[in-house]
Order: sequence, then C-alpha cells, then structure tokens
Amino acid sequence: MRFLTSRCRPVTLILALIAVWMLLSVYYLEIGIKDPVKYSPSSKETPEYIQMFQKQQEQVFAERRALYEKQCQKGFKGGAGEVYYYQPAKLAVCHVQKVGCTFWKRIFHFLYGDTNGKNISSPFEIERYYVHFVGGKKTNTSSYAAKKALFDSFNKVLFVRDPWARIWSVYIDKFVLPDSWLDYGRAIANRRVDRSRRKSCPDDIGFVEYLDFALNVKQDAHWKPVHQVCSPCVFRPQYLGKMETFSKDSAHVLREVGLESLVQGHDHAHYAQDEVRMLTEYIFRVFEARPPLRKCLTHAGVAERLWMAFVLNGYIGDAQTFPKEEFTKAIDGMVNTRAASQKVVELMLKYHANSTARTSQQMKDYRRSVMVQHYRQAPRPLLEKIVKMYNGDFVLFDYEARPADIFQPDP
Ligand SMILES: *[C@@H]1O[C@H](CO)[C@@H](O)[C@H](O)[C@H]1NC(C)=O
Ligand SMILES: *[C@@H]1O[C@H](CO)[C@@H](O)[C@H](O)[C@H]1NC(C)=O
Ligand SMILES: *[C@@H]1O[C@H](CO)[C@@H](O)[C@H](O)[C@H]1NC(C)=O
Repeated sequence: MRFLTSRCRPVTLILALIAVWMLLSVYYLEIGIKDPVKYSPSSKETPEYIQMFQKQQEQVFAERRALYEKQCQKGFKGGAGEVYYYQPAKLAVCHVQKVGCTFWKRIFHFLYGDTNGKNISSPFEIERYYVHFVGGKKTNTSSYAAKKALFDSFNKVLFVRDPWARIWSVYIDKFVLPDSWLDYGRAIANRRVDRSRRKSCPDDIGFVEYLDFALNVKQDAHWKPVHQVCSPCVFRPQYLGKMETFSKDSAHVLREVGLESLVQGHDHAHYAQDEVRMLTEYIFRVFEARPPLRKCLTHAGVAERLWMAFVLNGYIGDAQTFPKEEFTKAIDGMVNTRAASQKVVELMLKYHANSTARTSQQMKDYRRSVMVQHYRQAPRPLLEKIVKMYNGDFVLFDYEARPADIFQPDP
C-alpha cells in the first residue's frame, strides 16, 4: 500500500498538471476563437494576434472559393461585371449595388484623389451623394471582359449578400425613404386597381406591392441577383466577401493589398454613426435635387422618413416615437436645405446615441424580426419566385433559400 501511494503521488501531480494545462488551453483557445470575430482594424493588437486573425480569414475565403468553384461546374453563368481597379495595389473590386458599394467607391475615390476638392485624411469623409452622382470621372473602371488578362493578375474581390436581406434593404432605401418615389414609386402606385390610390407622392408603397413590381415587372441593378450582375463563375474572385461580415472581410482584403491604413480607426461604432450621417446627408441632397419632392414633404417630413428607416435598421430604438415637434421647430422654417440637413444629422446622432444601450446582437435580432414580419405578409407565390430567381445566389454563396422563420406555416 505504502509503496503504491508513494508511486501514485507523482502520477497524480502530473495528471493534475495536465488537467490544469488542458483547462488553460481550452480557455485560451476559446478566447482565440472568440476574439478575432470582434476584431476590427482599429484594435491595438499584437502582430501574433493579427496573424491568427488573418489565418482564420484565409481559411474562410478558401472555403467560399471552393464552394463557388464546385457550383460553377454545374453550369452557372451570369454577368461579367463592372470592375473598379487600382494598379499600384493590384486591387480589382467587382461592383454590385446594395452590397457595400458606397464603401468601395469611397476607397477608390480616395485612392484616386477624387475627393470633391477637399483635403481629407480618410475615405469616409467623402459624401455618399458625391460618390454616387458627382465624382468618379478620375477613377479607373472597366468591364471585366475588356481587361480580363490584367485583372487575372490582380487581387479580385466580389462582395455578396443574402438575397432576402438585399431585397428588403432596397425597399427601405428606395420606398420608405423618398429616393425612388418619383420614378418606381409612381410606377408602382399607377398599377393600383383603386384609381384614387394612384398618387404622385407615393409615400405609402407597401412591401408586398414593391416585391410584386421588383420580381414580376422591372429588373433593376439594385435587386438583380448578384451572380447576374457579377458572376463568380466568370470573375473568379480570390476574395468572396459577405455583407454579413463586411468589416472583417473588407479589413482582411485591404490588409492583403497593403491598404489597411485606409480603415484605421473605422470600427463598428463609427460605422453606425457614419451610416446615420451619410444617409441623412444623402437623402437631403436627393430632396434638394428633385424639386417635385417639395410637394410631397417638408424638411421635418424628410426627417420623419429617415427616422422610420433608422428604426427599421436598428440604429434608433423602436421604443422611441418620432419627436415631431422638436424636428419641426428646428428645421421647418429653414430655407437652406443643407443647414437643415446638418441639424437633422445632429438630432439623429443624439437619438442614435440614446439607443446604443442595446447590444449589436439585439439590434440584429430586431432587424431580422421586422424583415421576417414583412416577408410573411407576402403571398406564397411571391416568396417562391424569390427562391427560384435567386437560386444562383443561394447556391453559389451558401445562403438559405428557405429560411425557416420566413417560411413558417401560418398558425
Ligand atoms: C488607370 O488606367 C490607365 C489607362 O489604362 C493606366 O495607365 C493607369 O495605370 C491606371 N491607374 C491606376 C492607378 O490603376
Ligand atoms: C492637407 O492637410 C494636411 C494636414 O491636415 C496638410 O499637411 C497639407 O499641407 C494639406 N494639403 C493641402 C494641399 O492643402
Ligand atoms: C432615450 O430613450 C428612451 C426610450 O428608449 C426615452 O424614454 C428617453 O426619454 C430617451 N432620452 C432622451 C434624452 O431622448
């Protein structure tokens, strides 16, 4: 007995040490798995840490590449795409609407010094309206087909998005906000059977009538399937980024081409604030540029539409109702739309700051639930049409064609 115990002691000790070591490594491993997810380019992390993050990202991109390569063999074709490129970094990004294209346009405008004559230090100081409607003449773009040989020696980048979320986000941007009221909005209203509801200020376009129009009447680059705008089977990107992991994926790409300094300090909190500012300024510029909209909305009316969009996107909590009086007092008397726009940015950021108590997961869950509610109002044939029309996107990019929450049978 004595003999046994004395022999057992070191063994026990060793076993205990091994157990502690295992617990510690699980602990560190877990941190290692968790933290890179939160990684943003502004984190002051060690080189080892960044290397680990990069490794993890490389794996993600390799898997996405393998998937689309496999699916492409089944005969998917699609569009060749318009490419933004920058020779010094050998960077070529295929342009797709509603998938972070403002981000990439700002990056390219900045690289080409196309900054609206302003001396700025970050791409994110360039206005959204400017990159979409004014600038860009200095920025090199080309169809993929025209410069295939050149681009094949570049780092090719394509960003994609879940079709359900992309179609939904067009609705918010174009019809909750007045961006497309005068063209598509009027076209949709004019299809209404009840003539009295055909209005020249279509501020009441419903999600279902928009879906019917987008799926059955009019193709537009904003909601056309991604693989028809820029097919991975033609473009063959090394980097297939996803909107759902946009900051991680874009940070990786920019690091790979040596341009990570461009997004230094641009973390998640900045991203949300930037969205609020950018969209507010953009919509007021649209309002300014299209005089017929003045018959539809006052300044405070524009602000109210922005408020609705920010609530739907989770930037402002849904518990808060639109403080109409405060906005009306502040901006309806203003003649200068730019000044009104700046005042609205200030107020919106104040309410946005009051809504940041929610975690980003809560914000995401909220956004999802609102979207699902809207899809569930749509007749089944329209949903089936999405499944069919966007089949290529679901299959090539690994998105769920029939999300259970949207396709739940009615109770
Ligand atoms: C832009 O295109 C021109 C003409 O093809 C080319 O010479 C130049 O290198 C390009 N610039 C960049 C920065 O890619
Ligand atoms: C732009 O701003 C930087 C610092 O803010 C300054 O050093 C530089 O001289 C400015 N350039 C021009 C052309 O004004
Ligand atoms: C912040 O939001 C809550 C509701 O979400 C509201 O009750 C409160 O009055 C708001 N505070 C300010 C300063 O607006």
